[in-house]
Amino acid sequence: MTARGSGPLGVFDSGLGGLTVVRALRLALPSEPIIYLGDTARVPYGTRSAETVVRYARGCARLLIDRGIKALVVACNTVSAVALELLRAELDLPVIGVVEPGARTAVRAVEGQLGGTRVPRIGVLGTAGTVASGAYPRAVAQISTRYEVVALAAPLLVPLVEEGWLEGEVPRLVVRRYVEPLIDAGASVLVLGCTHYPLLGHLIAEEAERLAGRPIPVVDSAAATADAVREWTLEDRIPTAPEGIAGLELLVTDRPQTFAAVASRFLGEDVPEVSLVDLSPG
Ligand code: DGL
Repeated sequence: MTARGSGPLGVFDSGLGGLTVVRALRLALPSEPIIYLGDTARVPYGTRSAETVVRYARGCARLLIDRGIKALVVACNTVSAVALELLRAELDLPVIGVVEPGARTAVRAVEGQLGGTRVPRIGVLGTAGTVASGAYPRAVAQISTRYEVVALAAPLLVPLVEEGWLEGEVPRLVVRRYVEPLIDAGASVLVLGCTHYPLLGHLIAEEAERLAGRPIPVVDSAAATADAVREWTLEDRIPTAPEGIAGLELLVTDRPQTFAAVASRFLGEDVPEVSLVDLSPG
């Protein structure tokens, strides 16, 4: 496949969570311009059927391609889980998702545990759609068949993050409820299989350590995905932009002011103006 010219990297998610990937991309590739689309009119994707997620994903990709992107970063675990292969087959540009990079990092984290009496287990927290798709067990099996994956849907974590409820008794208890079965099942690494979860990563790591009685590595697929995009630029699979601090354009399908108000927490920087776009017919 030939990569496109010198446009921005296109990144999309169902809403805010994908900004954690944008943040990691801006750290890893500061001279790459980025155009981000959050489909805030139709979030959440994680509770919808695969057919609906595919339809939404096609619409998001089309809008970004019409704006001249050179590569597409699918910063949504649910879309990466159910629609990535299809997008890759349909689109004439490089497409990177978040599941493969997260799975690779998780495997690296447990590699050192081989040789013990138990098969190392990789725990995954994700949306209902991601878990039902079996994408993480498949991605891990493609890397190595020596590991088992235990995946659990954690539906309450997305609304907690959307509400900005990141500290205190309530999120901690919810996190504990989701982490406990994975630790009980023998998980020795936890993958944050949803773009929202890195904002609760500190609580997830603390609760995992408390339950396991030792530190449990927590894999943030945002950082792993940014590393994968950088690798693709180094391998010339994605053309690089000239040196310099690059721009960031933010697009949403609903409520730009609300998005702008919370986006800086995800991005870790002041946010530029957020523009409203129309994806209909969806
Ligand atoms: N962006 C979704 C994901 O990473 C989480 C939010 C949603 O359900 O749309 O799976």
